Amino acid sequence: MESISETRSNIKRLGKTLGLICRIAMIVFILLAAFSFVLAGISVLLPDTMSSFKSYFEQNTIFQLLKAAAGLKSMDQRYVSAIGAMVTAIIFAVLALYLGSFRKLLMEMVSSEKPFTQDLARTIRRKSYTLLLMLVYNPVVALLTFLIAMLFSYFVEYGAHIQEKADQTSRIQEEMIVSFAEITENKSGQTGKHVRRVAEYTRILATALGLDRETVENLRLASTMHDIGKLMIPGEILEKPGKLTEEEYRTIKTHTTYGGKLLQNVEGDVIALARTVALEHHERPDGRGYPEGKTEISLAGRIVAVADVYDALTSKRSYKEAWEEDRAYQEIVNGAGTQFDSEVVEAFKNAYGEISRIREMYRD
Ligand SMILES: [Fe+2]
Ligand SMILES: [Fe+2]
Repeated sequence: MESISETRSNIKRLGKTLGLICRIAMIVFILLAAFSFVLAGISVLLPDTMSSFKSYFEQNTIFQLLKAAAGLKSMDQRYVSAIGAMVTAIIFAVLALYLGSFRKLLMEMVSSEKPFTQDLARTIRRKSYTLLLMLVYNPVVALLTFLIAMLFSYFVEYGAHIQEKADQTSRIQEEMIVSFAEITENKSGQTGKHVRRVAEYTRILATALGLDRETVENLRLASTMHDIGKLMIPGEILEKPGKLTEEEYRTIKTHTTYGGKLLQNVEGDVIALARTVALEHHERPDGRGYPEGKTEISLAGRIVAVADVYDALTSKRSYKEAWEEDRAYQEIVNGAGTQFDSEVVEAFKNAYGEISRIREMYRD
């Protein structure tokens, strides 16, 4: 989970740096265009001062070409310089425009959910041909920048390829997760929409806690597997009406460790998160939870704990009636700092309107 958002922020940083370089280069080209434009004027109006700009004209391919052509027709030196400088000014202006549009592309890329696309790679390649205009000014610089831009376009294309693969993997993960959740739901004897409501409460709580969109979505998916370990618990115990014996209760508690085991050999960010949730959704900050009784609980575990208990309280189970909404709300609030994490309970209070709406929407 973290590696993806890290990569994304690295891309953003890289994009921003490249954008800054583009902006600086754009300003340089605008200045060069203005300078060339002024030189064109000087060539005609003040031909005597032209010797100070000798080096500018000497390394200017356009000027050299023009001079060679003009020599054949014995054209006035002043006009050759002026035309040379004017054409150069236009080329610099075009390059400045190119950099401006390239920078815009970069900024779009940085702010996009999917920074790399085949389309973008093609656009960069197409635009890069503009850089060849510089050939007439300085062939080495022209070829070098053209090559860099081309390489960048292939880098983007490669990124797009990797991104497609990653999307495919997460689609497969998601399909698998939904099937897992459905199987658990059928087996665990809990009423129909428990998994869906817990997932929605998890999403609401995670959002209220200020987590980013991607993390919220991963956590929502992961939460659907919190009780997956119940697949390993005998149906008679799960569906038993009335009070459980001490022994039966101990057996039920093992659904957390079974869940962790079931998910431990499956790869993927969401599955790794699901494993943590399966292991920790019955832990309590006061250390009186299970299976380990630990007090250092991951945020994912702390969030799903609140979502799960709130839904269990407000739902009818084989051994109990559904609680009134206000009573369930109070129970969660009273558990802050002991059964539940205080920060998550705070988020629960703040987002209660939405939680209550979801409960109404997905009634059993
Ligand atoms: Fe559970
Ligand atoms: Fe549950």
